[in-house]
Amino acid sequence: QKSLLPNPNNFFTELLSTLPKQNRVGTLRDLYKYQGFWYSSIILTGVTQAQKQFQALPTDIIIAGGPKTGNTWLKALCFAIATRKRYQDDHDHQIENHPLLSNLPHSLVPFLEVDFLKDTPTITNTREHTLLSTHMPYTSLPESIPSCGCKIIYICREPKDTFVSQWHFAKRLDELRSARSGSEMKLDSSLIYHDEFNLFCEGKTSWGPYWDHVLGYYKASLDKPDMFLFLKYEELKADTVFYVRKMAEFMCEPFSNEEEHEGMPEKIVRMCSFQSLSGLEVNKTGKFRPIGHVELDNCAYFRQGNTGDWKYHLTPEMAERIDTIKEEKLRGSGFSF
Ligand code: A3P
Repeated sequence: QKSLLPNPNNFFTELLSTLPKQNRVGTLRDLYKYQGFWYSSIILTGVTQAQKQFQALPTDIIIAGGPKTGNTWLKALCFAIATRKRYQDDHDHQIENHPLLSNLPHSLVPFLEVDFLKDTPTITNTREHTLLSTHMPYTSLPESIPSCGCKIIYICREPKDTFVSQWHFAKRLDELRSARSGSEMKLDSSLIYHDEFNLFCEGKTSWGPYWDHVLGYYKASLDKPDMFLFLKYEELKADTVFYVRKMAEFMCEPFSNEEEHEGMPEKIVRMCSFQSLSGLEVNKTGKFRPIGHVELDNCAYFRQGNTGDWKYHLTPEMAERIDTIKEEKLRGSGFSF
């Protein structure tokens, strides 16, 4: 079967040549601006492919969020809620044989921009999955998503923590790519850091500008409240059980009295907690390979899982710069982090 990856002869190379481009330092991929948002070429292939081919079903639930805003956690929670009737708990009140105990949450929920690129795409229009995920901004979603009436659970996170989390992830990717290419050249981590920080502030970050991403979904959620559950990482962290109940209701699978009685919402929260997921063998030593990306250690998806970590990574000036941009961008929107 013909590969869908960027290739000098396909339409994609032509498209790229017409788009604004942002070079990045180290081995980090250059970004291209498409429909107002920035992507690496490989992800952009997936975006355009999903836009052309993906047909949403009214029963689908799309898990959306910008990178490093809590997607791994949200996928785990949604997957656990959606599949809870299939798995029984044992006497220690652990949910036995659950796929989340032996799989990275990303492997259990197809990702639109990536899974359409596989020679045998994981997503088909006769799929059994109803849970799907994306980082795509609202305005670039495949047309059938807003039109078919399926539901979207969106997560966002305070921008300074989001940047810090993105930075650590990007650094890990950069290290892996350098190791793979056998590069002798030592990368200047502080240079990458400041460069990436400036790019984040300018909105030039994968799937960014981050503010536009959040506001796009926020405004859509005001227009179509039945279609959206709009979550903030910090609120989810502060009262996960409350939001797990909300998610279950939103997914049209509210917990029954019996499930409440046996503590099912709490069990799901425990199973999907940072401590629990990050301690699993699969997430400590396993590897995950998003298409076109270097093989990534699963543990890279679990760093700290805290709020306010930015205090240890940003100078007061850097924090102020992000806060000022945040204020400007959100002014008048009714939204705040
Ligand atoms: P930090 O880098 O701040 O620790 P994403 O899943 O969108 O890639 O976001 C990754 C961020 O979510 C990382 O944040 C990661 O540690 C955190 N995270 C992963 N699993 C989590 C969980 N179960 N509970 C809370 N945070 C989690």
